[in-house]
Amino acid sequence: MSSSKGFGLRDGEQTADLPAQPDAGVYFIGRIHTPWRERKDCPKNARESDAVCTVELDPRWTAGLKDVGSCSHLVLLYWMDKAPRNLVLQVPGHYGVQRGTFALRSPARPNPIAMSVVRLLGIEGNRLSVVGLDCLDGTPLLDIKPYFASTDSVPDASVGWHSAKNPK
Ligand SMILES: C[S@@+](CC[C@H](N)C(=O)[O-])C[C@H]1O[C@@H](n2cnc3c(N)ncnc32)[C@H](O)[C@@H]1O
Repeated sequence: MSSSKGFGLRDGEQTADLPAQPDAGVYFIGRIHTPWRERKDCPKNARESDAVCTVELDPRWTAGLKDVGSCSHLVLLYWMDKAPRNLVLQVPGHYGVQRGTFALRSPARPNPIAMSVVRLLGIEGNRLSVVGLDCLDGTPLLDIKPYFASTDSVPDASVGWHSAKNPK
């Protein structure tokens, strides 16, 4: 089991052997500054907090923010650097039921990529103020994309196991 800080292997959890080498590399394009230093204090998802967070882009990419200020919402992709990468079956603490990694939004996954749709408050130079994050202070940023409600929103989408647990 990976010894990533704060993640222990729970009963019912299963790991997979990771491949010997990764297939590709990524560039961290910045860091996300949030009020949260420990996982237990983080919101569980992007809508659980209205804290204003700061995305600090590596200055080499600042020109790429041209026209971003016209967007009300952005998709942020970030790298959950404190999560283990070898869990294939997980038992999330707040649900207590075994589920496949790919049925969960857990940060523990082979490529620990997280996503949130955030509300853009403003941009100053290489810094973006946003609302709608759930990650630790200092979490590496992978990408910024415009959120298109016209194509990204699927209002009738469902997650069966979750709706069964939380019937309307
Ligand atoms: C359930 S994940 C959801 C992430 C993202 N919104 C998504 O859906 O892909 C959010 C949780 O990941 C954990 N977390 C936050 N930052 C992390 C980091 N840098 N490394 C590992 N775990 C992190 C915290 O426990 C937080 O509550």
